[in-house]
Amino acid sequence: MTAGTARTVIGASRERPCTLVVCRGCCCGNPRKHPGSDHEWQLDRLYSAASDSEGRFTVRTTDCLGPCDQANVIVVQPSGEGRRRGGRATWIGWAMDDAATDDVLRWAADGGPGIAEPPPTSELQFIRPPGEVRRRTGRRGRARR
Ligand code: FES
Repeated sequence: MTAGTARTVIGASRERPCTLVVCRGCCCGNPRKHPGSDHEWQLDRLYSAASDSEGRFTVRTTDCLGPCDQANVIVVQPSGEGRRRGGRATWIGWAMDDAATDDVLRWAADGGPGIAEPPPTSELQFIRPPGEVRRRTGRRGRARR
């Protein structure tokens, strides 16, 4: 960082823990669309692990994030410290089974983006956020009817 560009981080963002944003929109977590996975069990595991982490990471759900064809989508947001170290929100797709959930939990427990390296198997599931795809392709997403 050069002189004059230093950022001062104040308030809650300084102490913000790594956060797992778990999509539970129209497709992610929907047993009618993805009957082979126990989505409730996954969410229970995520909440339970966050509770046991003593504040190292948190979990929250959100409505549809956009890339439904890559369900279940989990966004791993860096902690305040992770963001200061260069970590950025990381989107993980196809996070359906216990192994994928274990990997996401391990990464969050280790500190998440900017603090710890992601598990290699999670890296294989990294997806681009919808906004980034639109910028790269110049497309505006699906046509509305
Ligand atoms: S429901 Fe999760 S991306 Fe649409």
